[in-house]
Amino acid sequence: MPKRNLLILSNRLPVTVSETITKSPGGLVAALEGLSSEQFDLKWIGWPGSVIPDERKEEVERLLVEEHGCIPVFLSEEEAAGYYLGFCNSSLWPILHYMPSYMRYDPAWWEQYRQINQRFAEKALELAEPGDLVWVHDYQLMLVPQMVHDEMPELKIGFFLHTPFPSYETFRCQPKRNELVTGLLGADLIGFHTFGYMRHFRSTVLRLLGIESEITLIRNEKGHVTRLGVFPIGINAKKFEETLNSREFKQRLAEMRATDGDKRVVLSVERLDYTKGILHRIEAIERFLAEIDDPEEREAIKFIFVSVPSREGIEQYQELRAEVEARIGRINGTYATLRSSPIRFIHGSVEFVDLCALYTLSDVGLVTPLIDGMNLVAKEYIACQRDNPGVLILSEFAGAAGELFNAILINPYDAEGVANALREALALSPEEKAIRNRPMRARVMKYDAQKWARWFIEQLLRGRDEATAPARSQIDELADELRSAVRAQKHIGLFLDYDGTLREIERDPQAAKPNAGVRHLLEALRHRPNLEVTLISGRTSDDLEAWLGEYPFSLIAEHGAALRRSGTRAWERLDVGVSYAWKEPMLQILRLYEDSTPGSLVEEKKTSLVWHYRNTDPEFGAWKAHQLAVELGAVMGNEPVEIRHGRKIIEASAAAISKGAAVRRLLEGRYCDLVLCAGDDQTDESMFEIAAPNFVSIKVGRSPSRAMYRLPNPAEFRKFLESVLIAKAG
Ligand code: UDP
Ligand code: G6P
Repeated sequence: MPKRNLLILSNRLPVTVSETITKSPGGLVAALEGLSSEQFDLKWIGWPGSVIPDERKEEVERLLVEEHGCIPVFLSEEEAAGYYLGFCNSSLWPILHYMPSYMRYDPAWWEQYRQINQRFAEKALELAEPGDLVWVHDYQLMLVPQMVHDEMPELKIGFFLHTPFPSYETFRCQPKRNELVTGLLGADLIGFHTFGYMRHFRSTVLRLLGIESEITLIRNEKGHVTRLGVFPIGINAKKFEETLNSREFKQRLAEMRATDGDKRVVLSVERLDYTKGILHRIEAIERFLAEIDDPEEREAIKFIFVSVPSREGIEQYQELRAEVEARIGRINGTYATLRSSPIRFIHGSVEFVDLCALYTLSDVGLVTPLIDGMNLVAKEYIACQRDNPGVLILSEFAGAAGELFNAILINPYDAEGVANALREALALSPEEKAIRNRPMRARVMKYDAQKWARWFIEQLLRGRDEATAPARSQIDELADELRSAVRAQKHIGLFLDYDGTLREIERDPQAAKPNAGVRHLLEALRHRPNLEVTLISGRTSDDLEAWLGEYPFSLIAEHGAALRRSGTRAWERLDVGVSYAWKEPMLQILRLYEDSTPGSLVEEKKTSLVWHYRNTDPEFGAWKAHQLAVELGAVMGNEPVEIRHGRKIIEASAAAISKGAAVRRLLEGRYCDLVLCAGDDQTDESMFEIAAPNFVSIKVGRSPSRAMYRLPNPAEFRKFLESVLIAKAG
């Protein structure tokens, strides 16, 4: 059987094409290197990392496909400038790293970003077969999930964000925030490094799009479900272990020891990026050096910076490089002796085996990002502390800090704290270092990149949430039962809630008048023999009279407090003798919440009081609503009221009044062969509680319900009724 495709989409291919083909820099590539698969046919779609002239494209493509399993997406000079240097790295990167003051925005960059995302999506769609997996990576491709999903919803689409996801307050600065978040929600699964990033994402979706989520699940307006998960990425542990055992490594280490072996070495490795906290680190080092009185002691410590060139076309990166070089120059100028200078600055990348030797050689790994999605360097450093361990000093703002619990954690903005940490690290005994490192190394080696990738793919393969999916086969059985009842001319009672069941909910309740679909259905129902129809609502009798009064159906208004029987025009009260003495004290409490929760309001109805919080800050409103429900429960516990927490409302209503009670009342003294009731929200649950052998209930929507059957939305529900009650009984 042919294997399924696993299409990996990332901005960078694992190899960069220039004169020659070399490995690409950065954490993403290093992690995915560890991904191999017996289950899937792996195809990697991405940018070769440089502008390839037209005449070389064919040859480059052939080489990439045949020798590296990669499918290139070529970018012109102008596209690379607008998409990669512009939108990705001058607009998105700073915002995702809490640096809005570094953010630049140009609508032309956005257009390029959109078009290049489209190009990636098209490449994936060209290759994909139904049932394939598409795994999209990182901030450069945030629109791809929706673009692919729109064309082939049957594909399983995963997205992993390798950067932090910032708080809503920061993300909202990005002018295309809504489009970006909507693009991501095309995915079936979105992965983050930490729970914090996931929490920020959920909050952003709620505030930008008004979509509430469960902890690990978001359902968009069209019903598509996106699951969320936390998957901290690991390193290619096997490659490190093999290298540490290699002869070449031992040789390189011996050479380095011969050069720097008499010194205590403090190592920092990173791309030259403003998120990495290089300038802050230099300040801390300056402080540390200034506090050493003995020049010989100072000479005995060597700082090594490996700064991999990155995004050099961007002004802020050029400025950073100039500033880093100038500041290091000043420090070396101040403290250098004939024999050595304190900081060795390597502006370039080093071979993997040399990197391992450097990690192993150094007494301290000094990792100080101001913010970092994960930071693989920290994990790689730990992996290399096998035989003669050194100490990791790690910024608490790196995602890795959540896992590397025994590192010396520092706040990179606190230069004095970092200087103190350096002193502490250098003073640790070998035993203390070993005790710190052992459990961290065990973790790093166990939860490696391969495990990470496998774990993500496993989750992606897991079916959609069965618990909330409509049960198609069961509803088909009900349809058959109803059709045969119609054919046998049985007497059927229909109790149909209006808003959210027959008719789609509107933001403005007055806009939810019967539309063409509802009218068509009601018109047909009125002409069916043996059907007894009752329309039910929380609305006032005036509303129902105006919108539905023309039909010869029974109407129940105000959640069951008023009834107009079919064939009559008069309304009768069902709440005669019901006490409303609780309304006054209750109103006072609700007014307090109205005053203290901007955007909320109290609505007074005949049989109930409602506190609406749809227009409040969503998180603050939800918190106050919870508080109010608890308070009302405590204060009103002995009153004949029912407190209900509905969709963006808290409603207190007379306990004797409910839709269920009204249905029971109407059914008294009549016989129906079959009773079908349908509703969409909490107030309808009182109808679903009615237990009788000839009684069936349908929930419209996806929230939990005790109803026996389920349909996803009003349109499907109308279609269902038409097909079983109206279509010619065959
Ligand atoms: N790295 C590299 N060449 C070097 C130095 C480092 O490829 O000369 C690798 C390093 O081993 C690590 C990655 O670059 O795997 C950096 O990943 P990290 O998560 O620390 O930061 P990012 O660059 O992704 O922001
Ligand atoms: C970070 C990003 C990656 C990116 C890498 C290198 O790790 O999350 O998506 O590939 O940096 O940056 P570059 O701009 O050179 O691709």
